Amino acid sequence: MTAVHVLNGPNLNLLGKREPAIYGSASLEDIRKLLEGKCAAKGVSLVFKQSNSEGDLISWIQEAGAVGAPVILNAGAFTHTSIALYDAIKGAQATVIEVHLSNVYARESFRHHSYISPAVRGIIAGFGPQSYLLALEAIFANI
Ligand code: DQA
Repeated sequence: MTAVHVLNGPNLNLLGKREPAIYGSASLEDIRKLLEGKCAAKGVSLVFKQSNSEGDLISWIQEAGAVGAPVILNAGAFTHTSIALYDAIKGAQATVIEVHLSNVYARESFRHHSYISPAVRGIIAGFGPQSYLLALEAIFANI
């Protein structure tokens, strides 16, 4: 299988310190290690990145699409604002699973709309770091 690309958007570098009541105590590095272990057990490479810039995420989605790599994307707040990310997913024909640590539908109404959801394969939200693991399971199961 092509390397799994896990792309993280704005403010996710602060995980562990950022609003722990909502996002929990695990850092982004903890999540990376969790996924690295699962990927290593399957003999699959992991590409794991974070950026606070929309343009980086767009370029990385294009790169993943170009090599046919599956993408787990937590676009953070860009989920709720970015037509450019929607276009990137569509344009790159990337297979993307949208993930969120929190249940965005149980939060402020501005989080209830996702620009990227219509372009993705599936959505997993509300399970903390397990959201990423569930997405990985879906990729391993080829669904
Ligand atoms: C988030 C939810 C978004 O609404 C928020 O802007 C984030 C994190 C999540 O993982 O729960 O930055 O994507």
